[in-house]
Amino acid sequence: MRVGVLTVSDRAANGTYEDRSGPLIVEIIHRHTGWQVAKQTVVADELDQIVQVLRDWTLAGLALILTTGGTGFSPRDVTPEATMQVVNREAPGIAEALRSESLKITRHAMLSRARAGIRDSTLIVNLPGSPKAAKEGLDILLPVLPHALELLSGGPITEDRHQAV
Ligand code: MTE
Repeated sequence: MRVGVLTVSDRAANGTYEDRSGPLIVEIIHRHTGWQVAKQTVVADELDQIVQVLRDWTLAGLALILTTGGTGFSPRDVTPEATMQVVNREAPGIAEALRSESLKITRHAMLSRARAGIRDSTLIVNLPGSPKAAKEGLDILLPVLPHALELLSGGPITEDRHQAV
């Protein structure tokens, strides 16, 4: 599985703030899966820049793109809008699960406008921006990802599916 990690942050993009969430997501992916993080970058909270990266990485054939940041209420937060411009099919259950599970940790989770969806055979998931929130989101998402990506690739359906039903 090839994965991309996209940090969306004005401050990280202009160098006034060190991106800690992107590298943390990369580390967690390495630790918990055998997947290769093939792409990682930082962009400003600019719709066009986010859309461009998501399109390029989808064309490059990544199985999964995780974004971090830009999902809140600030006027500059446009990651969900960019994601919705790019996906052909929405995966609402993922965003619903991220919010509902995160609400058990912090009521602030209701301020996330994160979305998830599929473009061609790439799954795109928005995670929140802080390292703590990104890690919590990944903890919720990781157990389901192997099966999600297997389904998306049209690969064999494992016994897990039947056990999960
Ligand atoms: N989800 C989890 N699991 N943990 C958190 O601490 N923070 C919330 C929310 N989701 C949070 C969370 C907060 S404070 C905000 S504003 C939104 O995510 C959006 O975050 P973002 O703008 O950094 O993407």
